Amino acid sequence: MGTFLHRLMTLSFLLSSAPNVYGSNICTSRGVTTCQQCLAVHPSCAWCSQEEFGKGGSGASRCDLKENLLNGGCSNAALEFPSSSMTVENDAPLSDKASGTTNSVTQIKPQKLRMVLRPGDSKRFTVSVKQVEDYPVDLYYLMDLSYSMKDDLARLRTLGDELAEAMGRTTSNLRMGFGAFVDKTTSPYMYTFPPEAVTNPCYGIHLQCQAQFGFKHVLSLTEKVERFTEEVKKQQVSRNRDAPEGGFDAVMQAVVCKDRIGWRPDASHLLVFTTDAKTHIALDGRIAGIVQPNDGLCHLDNENVYNKSTVLDYPSLALMTEKMSENNINLVFAVTSYVVPLYKEYSKLIPGTTVGTLSDDSGNVIQLIEEAYAKIRSKVELEQIGVPEELNLSYNASCLNGEVIPGLRSCSGLKIGDTVSFSVDAELRSCPKEKSHTFTIKPLGFKDSLEVTVDYACSCSCEETTEANSPHCSNGNGTYECGVCQCHPGRLGPHCECSVEDYSPSDDANCIEKPGGPICSGRGDCLCGQCSCHANEFGQVWGKYCQCDDFNCLRFKGALCSDHGKCDCGRCQCDSGWEGENCNCTTRKDTCQSAFGICSGRGNCECGECQCTQPGAYGATCEKCPTCPDSCVIKEACVECQHFKRGQYIKENSCSRICKNEIKVVEELGLLKNAMNCSYKDDNDCLVHFQYYEDENGKSILFVLKEPDCPEGPDILVAVLAGIGAILLLGLVGLLIWKLLVTIHDRREFARFEEERAKAKWDTANNPLYKGATSTFTNVAYRGN
Ligand SMILES: *[C@@H]1O[C@H](CO)[C@@H](O)[C@H](O)[C@H]1NC(C)=O
Ligand SMILES: *[C@@H]1O[C@H](CO)[C@@H](O)[C@H](O)[C@H]1NC(C)=O
Ligand SMILES: *[C@@H]1O[C@H](CO)[C@@H](O)[C@H](O)[C@H]1NC(C)=O
Ligand SMILES: *[C@@H]1O[C@H](CO)[C@@H](O)[C@H](O)[C@H]1NC(C)=O
Ligand SMILES: *[C@@H]1O[C@H](CO)[C@@H](O)[C@H](O)[C@H]1NC(C)=O
Ligand SMILES: *[C@@H]1O[C@H](CO)[C@@H](O)[C@H](O)[C@H]1NC(C)=O
Repeated sequence: MGTFLHRLMTLSFLLSSAPNVYGSNICTSRGVTTCQQCLAVHPSCAWCSQEEFGKGGSGASRCDLKENLLNGGCSNAALEFPSSSMTVENDAPLSDKASGTTNSVTQIKPQKLRMVLRPGDSKRFTVSVKQVEDYPVDLYYLMDLSYSMKDDLARLRTLGDELAEAMGRTTSNLRMGFGAFVDKTTSPYMYTFPPEAVTNPCYGIHLQCQAQFGFKHVLSLTEKVERFTEEVKKQQVSRNRDAPEGGFDAVMQAVVCKDRIGWRPDASHLLVFTTDAKTHIALDGRIAGIVQPNDGLCHLDNENVYNKSTVLDYPSLALMTEKMSENNINLVFAVTSYVVPLYKEYSKLIPGTTVGTLSDDSGNVIQLIEEAYAKIRSKVELEQIGVPEELNLSYNASCLNGEVIPGLRSCSGLKIGDTVSFSVDAELRSCPKEKSHTFTIKPLGFKDSLEVTVDYACSCSCEETTEANSPHCSNGNGTYECGVCQCHPGRLGPHCECSVEDYSPSDDANCIEKPGGPICSGRGDCLCGQCSCHANEFGQVWGKYCQCDDFNCLRFKGALCSDHGKCDCGRCQCDSGWEGENCNCTTRKDTCQSAFGICSGRGNCECGECQCTQPGAYGATCEKCPTCPDSCVIKEACVECQHFKRGQYIKENSCSRICKNEIKVVEELGLLKNAMNCSYKDDNDCLVHFQYYEDENGKSILFVLKEPDCPEGPDILVAVLAGIGAILLLGLVGLLIWKLLVTIHDRREFARFEEERAKAKWDTANNPLYKGATSTFTNVAYRGN
């Protein structure tokens, strides 16, 4: 019983990790059971959702390289192979100048991307950023009006116009605004005793000053910069009790109350924060019993005063960072030297902020703002908003000199008008729950941004047709999904055909190929009478009895099926053009072709090589055979072309290609062993004698006898005389014959004459000139009686 249980446990383990046949590539080596898992293995993996797929039912994995699935008989329609892609949806060019254009200014390119990403895959894109010239500037001056800033306020009253003028040099489109802060209007930050101190906090020092306030928005951003000086002149300092001020409350309101402040979307937003003291930070509200966290919303009342000052805690640095990034605010800490180190630390924690040292009376504030603005504009730093944790973005910056700085997301030292670019790699590391996600990449402090939408290619389209309790899976014993059955608990087998309770050891008989043989060829387990083949690191094991595999085939020089075929159940299935047990034999015949036919007619072409059958023949095409009787015939044409410069090869211009013999002209043919004596009759009927010899290096030499053996040459004079004689003779004969004929003719004529003369002796009455005296006439009209 123990072994039986153990067996069952193995069974269910095997089935839970089925299809349990591993191949040799990354896709088939993971024991993947669903399409979705398959896609997540590697971007090169594809899934076949065809119902009939795989060898013998229990074999090939459906998760494999695309070409393997197609070769394995998967139809294109059943193939699940989403691939990563990217399209640029908005790619407006970068603007040069902001002034004078009515169109919106573009400082980042492209503006919209959409990509499809497979898990494990990545896509790369390039973002270009340009600081356009003459970009509009919104400057909001946020001033600490605690008592110690008294002299600063006095100085600022005189500086307003100068500030406007200085900023006017960098931009022709400037707006300025003003706001002030002290601290939360509650104890212990505020003087509450004596009661007079509430309205005049300077009561204790026998002076008159403004009642304490948290944050007061004074002047909305306006082009009329002289209004700035006007409003500043109206301001009065106040007084609070503790040293740190509530400036961060003011920063938060100035950032989020964008309509009240009047921040323009198409402008640089400078928020200048001046103070000479430390600041309260989040959780400091507890000492006044304020525990409600800052909500990051605008709470200005009708008087433009922050009226949640005593309700909400100070904002945290993180919240400030988030809100400033959302609203593209560049915060400038203009602080006195005493607190510069402190604000430098804050600045490190809040990206996009700069710190300048304010002189005791704020006399250098103009210079400081100018510097800060230049610094802001000289740096481009990309920030990413809303990137899901499954996506890994990596950056390389190419700043001014074209040099690529790996891992950097920012460029500094830029001039207005410079363009920098960043190459960004987006890698999907795993599959998130949602189907797609949009995130933003934008330069800090810019309103321009790049919107990237990522569609996760994590699921298979075949999942849409998932069938619960499917008839494919043994009458509803499993869920049919993407070509495979996911069996209900207690059911096993590729089609859930087997139940755990039904298991009986007698089923094992079905798993044995030959009586007495091992179960499933020793390479699998018998489950419900079917073999489930074991995993094998070399390749697939399959077949009804796991008798087949794809790695035990003949090898040649270490390569399975010589790399020219597929191993199929122990036999090589050769690719076309190859044959033989191990596919090492090419079916090409052209390599056997010589000028005298396949293997020069002296052998067989096997595996692209000549096997010379004629004794004494050798060479790649059996072309060498000094002792073959036909070798003379082969060399004849070469003697003709190489020695006599005539014949067929000369006409075809193929002599030097075909005939590679050395020609030696000799007076007499030598007594060489292994030399073939040849001779042939040339077109002049001369007998040409030559000897064909090959030396030990295989070099063939043709010894050609200098004088061909021609029939004796006729004497010209004799010939001429003979000619003349012949003509005379012919003439004479002709004359004689003519004479003879004439003579015969004459004789005949004479004989006939004699005969005629003899006749004429008795025939004189028949004188042709004589006419009789009587004439007879016939009357044609007469009719008888
Ligand atoms: C703050 O001001 C707003 C707008 O005037 C008003 O609706 C709200 O009730 C005020 N809140 C407090 C706590 O005074
Ligand atoms: C993101 O990718 C970079 C570069 O490819 C790598 O160095 C870094 O470890 C990755 N981050 C995570 C969290 O995987
Ligand atoms: C960044 O540069 C490194 C090294 O030059 C390179 O390996 C990497 O692929 C680059 N990454 C991007 C996103 O361009
Ligand atoms: C499971 O299969 C068995 C045998 O094929 C069948 O009798 C039974 O009805 C099926 N179970 C369900 C829930 O359909
Ligand atoms: C092919 O392989 C067989 C068996 O290893 C070997 O005898 C034969 O020489 C090989 N043929 C070629 C053309 O390499
Ligand atoms: C070739 O001819 C030479 C002399 O003409 C003779 O001695 C020699 O035996 C002949 N070789 C063969 C192979 O017949």
